[in-house]
Amino acid sequence: MRSHTVRRSDLRSDSRIRGIRGYGLRLDKAGAGFSNQPWMNSEDRFIWHETHVVDVRDSAFASRLYREQRDVRSFLAFISDWKRLRLGCEIGSGYGRMTAVLCKFCEQVIGFEREVHFVHTSRILVPTAHFLPIESLSEVPSEAEAFDFVLTFTVLQHLNHLLLDRVSLEIGRILAHDGFLLICEETDPAVVTGFPNDPQAYCTIGRSVDTYAKLFETLDLLLTCPRRIERNSPRNSAGTYMLFRKSTGKKSDMPTGTPSVEPSPGVKQSPACTDFDVL
Ligand SMILES: C[S@@+](CC[C@H](N)C(=O)[O-])C[C@H]1O[C@@H](n2cnc3c(N)ncnc32)[C@H](O)[C@@H]1O
Repeated sequence: MRSHTVRRSDLRSDSRIRGIRGYGLRLDKAGAGFSNQPWMNSEDRFIWHETHVVDVRDSAFASRLYREQRDVRSFLAFISDWKRLRLGCEIGSGYGRMTAVLCKFCEQVIGFEREVHFVHTSRILVPTAHFLPIESLSEVPSEAEAFDFVLTFTVLQHLNHLLLDRVSLEIGRILAHDGFLLICEETDPAVVTGFPNDPQAYCTIGRSVDTYAKLFETLDLLLTCPRRIERNSPRNSAGTYMLFRKSTGKKSDMPTGTPSVEPSPGVKQSPACTDFDVL
C-alpha cells in the first residue's frame, strides 16, 4: 500500500496525517495557467470560484448558510449518538463552509477539493480540518473503508453521468463498514443547466432520490429530508438530504428516530422525517 494515503491508523498521530498525499503541496501557484477567460484554465476546464459555490449574496447567503449548517449539524448529532465518528470527510469541500460543521462531531476531518485556491482558503478559515487538493473526485487518496462519515453537499449534481458513476464507487470504497454517507443534492430531474454533455464545462443535473438510491445501491438509504434554504428564495424546492449507511447486515444495528430538523412549509416530508422540532 502507498505510504501517502489516508489510513485509519493515521488517527493516532497528526504528523502522519500531515504526510498523506498532497498535504504539503505548494499552493502559492494557485491560479497559474488561467487564460484570459477567468472561469477557464489553460486546459479549458471550468474553474470554480466563490461566487459559484452559493448563488445568493448578503442576507440571503447569511440565512442559507445558517440553515444549511444547522441541518447538517442535526444529522451529525443524530449519527454521532449512534456511532463514534473518528474520521470524517467532505468530498468537494469548496472553501470549507460546510466542512467546519464536521469538526464538532468527527475526531478528525479532511476536505477533498479539486480547486487549489479553495484548498488554500479553507486551510486558513478552518484550521481544525485538513484540506487536500485532489485531481479527480473519483480518486480519493485514501485506503478503503477509512471514513466513518462522508459528506457531499451540492457536488454530485454538478457531475456528468459517467463521472458520477465513478465517484459513487469511490465513495462506497472509502466509507467504513457501518459508516454514514450524507448527500445533499438537487433532486428535481427537470433541473438541467449548463452543459451536461461537456465534461470540462459547468452543469447542474437534477436526479431523483430513486436515482441516488440506485447509484448507492450497496448502501442503505435511511432517510431523506428537504434541503432548507433562505425563506425568501423564489425556488420551490432546493434539493434533498439523503442519509445512507453501509450496512453491517444486522437489523438491530439500524439507527432509529429522526434528526430534529425543521420542516419546510408546504413541502411534502419523507415519512421518516415527520418528527421535527420546529425552531
Ligand atoms: C456548489 S460547490 C459546493 C462546495 C461545498 N460542498 C459547499 O457546500 O460549500 C461544488 C464543489 O464541487 C466541486 N466540483 C464541481 N465539479 C467538479 C468536478 N467535475 N470535479 C471535481 N470537483 C468538482 C467544485 O470545485 C466545488 O468545490
